[in-house]
Amino acid sequence: MLSLASALSLFLFLPHVFAASADQWKSRSIYQIITDRFALSNDSSATCNTEDRIYCGGSWTGIVNHLDYIQDMGFDAVWISPIVKNIEAATAYGYAYHGYWTQDINSLNSHYGSEDDLKSLATALHARGMYLMVDIVVNHFVQNPSSNSSTLPQAFDYSGLSPFSAETDFHPECFITDYNNQTNVEQCWLGDSNLPLMDIDTENSTVVQEWNSWVTSFVNTYSIDGLRIDTVKHIRKDFWPAFASAAGVFTIGEVLTDNITYTSDYTQVLDSVLDYPTWYPVVQAFNTTSGNLSAIQSAVTQAQSSYKNGLFGTGAFLENHDQPRFQSHTTDTGLVKNAISFPFIHDGIPILYQGQEQGYTGAADPFNREALWFSGYQEDKDLVTHIKAVNTARQLAVNASSSFLTTKMSFVSQSDVGAIAISKPPMLALLTNVGSSGSASWSVSGVYNKGETVVDVLTCKTYTVDSSSGTLSASADSGAPRIILPTSALKSDGTLCASVAGTSGAMSVNSVGRGALGISLVAGLILTFL
Ligand SMILES: *[C@@H]1O[C@H](CO)[C@@H](O)[C@H](O)[C@H]1NC(C)=O
Ligand SMILES: *[C@@H]1O[C@H](CO)[C@@H](O)[C@H](O)[C@H]1NC(C)=O
Ligand SMILES: *[C@@H]1O[C@H](CO)[C@@H](O)[C@H](O)[C@H]1NC(C)=O
Ligand SMILES: *[C@@H]1O[C@H](CO)[C@@H](O)[C@H](O)[C@H]1NC(C)=O
Ligand SMILES: *[C@@H]1O[C@H](CO)[C@@H](O)[C@H](O)[C@H]1NC(C)=O
Ligand SMILES: *[C@@H]1O[C@H](CO)[C@@H](O)[C@H](O)[C@H]1NC(C)=O
Ligand SMILES: *[C@@H]1O[C@H](CO)[C@@H](O)[C@H](O)[C@H]1NC(C)=O
Ligand SMILES: *[C@@H]1O[C@H](CO)[C@@H](O)[C@H](O)[C@H]1NC(C)=O
Repeated sequence: MLSLASALSLFLFLPHVFAASADQWKSRSIYQIITDRFALSNDSSATCNTEDRIYCGGSWTGIVNHLDYIQDMGFDAVWISPIVKNIEAATAYGYAYHGYWTQDINSLNSHYGSEDDLKSLATALHARGMYLMVDIVVNHFVQNPSSNSSTLPQAFDYSGLSPFSAETDFHPECFITDYNNQTNVEQCWLGDSNLPLMDIDTENSTVVQEWNSWVTSFVNTYSIDGLRIDTVKHIRKDFWPAFASAAGVFTIGEVLTDNITYTSDYTQVLDSVLDYPTWYPVVQAFNTTSGNLSAIQSAVTQAQSSYKNGLFGTGAFLENHDQPRFQSHTTDTGLVKNAISFPFIHDGIPILYQGQEQGYTGAADPFNREALWFSGYQEDKDLVTHIKAVNTARQLAVNASSSFLTTKMSFVSQSDVGAIAISKPPMLALLTNVGSSGSASWSVSGVYNKGETVVDVLTCKTYTVDSSSGTLSASADSGAPRIILPTSALKSDGTLCASVAGTSGAMSVNSVGRGALGISLVAGLILTFL
């Protein structure tokens, strides 16, 4: 056994090298995993009916075994579902296979493997230069009520909970009835009398201290690089700064709303939020051919000016485990590829939910938690290739321009109502919602240099910017998007359109879009002084 002194020296001399900050996360790209549904340790093809809401057998070792699959698509971070011990019993809404029904924050959920398995996952990720983000729930615990009476307060056996094992650790039981009353949202309970989500009393300073010291040790023990925090709007805002500081790593919160003003308050107390307010108009813009593309611009520009750091560092996603998958709305390939591309041109951190790349179509919870092993982790398919291309293009843009990550995406007005052009130099996303049988065209001036050669990285088709007007003109094939980079940003030994890398020769990326670069330098300076 280690003596205390040698344990301490290990801790001091083998410091946790990653423990990444908000800044370090900004260039990352995240793959979201529901551990129970990602991979079995032995890769057997276990049955898994989503509507049964039972554990299907996925494990941390399963994730380790399939890191190539994730990394091959260009992701350099994973977000895994919660890891702590959950309620074992059946509940009115099935079993806690997803991990969001905490009973004990000091024990791990043994369904996903051992403590060593989890540590091996962190080690395997770090050996590849990848980050580990872990999902945590601070707002509530879960226990079945001791009787089926719906009279409040209900009785609970608190003894199975840890460390909050007394009735006084929780707010008095009441269910949230008024989302316009923030006290009601924070102090009443989520859930219902069949499955009450027991709302922890985060007004109690003893409870707060417990949480803060827990999170410091949790992050260190499991070598966690970032935390995704569940149901953030259900805890008072001034709880979060001390908690985030005790965590010492990047924190990104779930604030489920389309209200930008409401969301922006949480960007003051945590590093970042999941960008739900942009997600709503994006889904609506692309899930039919009559969707409203201008609503995207409107939400993005409002968020850019309202959030503490604009959209920089926010989590940009098309799908997650809480919402119907995009392909439950439409399976039109053109629409799907456009919608999937958006998070990769976004100012924030792109997040892709497992199964999206395999074209899964599950609707609302529990149907959107399909086991990934049914896909065979197939890599040679269209959507996987598409995701790899947009991920790589973003990485090339990060590498080619030191200001890419601090330049706000901007919208270049289009006369075609089915077309939208989003510029984030040196990247330009030409998106459309006309669908695979429609036609769309874009015309973009002032982004690239006159006569410059640029490439659509999805097809490797090159375009020459008009040498007198400086206009890039392009049209869509089968309603697909075009993701443009200057050929000078590509690498001749790279995996993306290597054959056209640097074909223009004349221009360097740094000469591209000087105007935008200047603006971003000013923006960067302003950010520094805020
Ligand atoms: C594979 O693992 C699952 C889940 O742990 C288990 O139920 C199953 O029996 C194993 N299959 C084989 C062939 O070992
Ligand atoms: C409550 O009802 C459910 C469903 O009928 C049942 O499974 C459960 O055992 C009941 N719980 C108690 C405490 O009686
Ligand atoms: C705060 O929590 C502690 C620990 O559970 C408890 O002893 C105390 O009664 C609580 N205080 C209030 C005001 O509820
Ligand atoms: C808001 O909710 C709290 C907690 O449920 C309640 O005590 C308070 O009366 C509500 N305020 C209003 C104005 O309804
Ligand atoms: C959005 O949130 C703000 C701040 O909480 C609130 O004042 C406003 O009424 C909300 N807007 C809508 C449309 O609900
Ligand atoms: C599209 O969205 C914009 C911005 O939110 C809005 O002003 C416009 O009225 C919407 N158009 C339609 C047809 O709904
Ligand atoms: C598009 O998404 C919106 C928002 O989720 C939803 O209300 C609407 O029904 C969807 N449309 C289609 C055609 O699925
Ligand atoms: C971007 O630069 C990093 C660091 O040099 C390198 O490891 C990575 O392969 C580059 N990405 C691409 C897509 O070329």
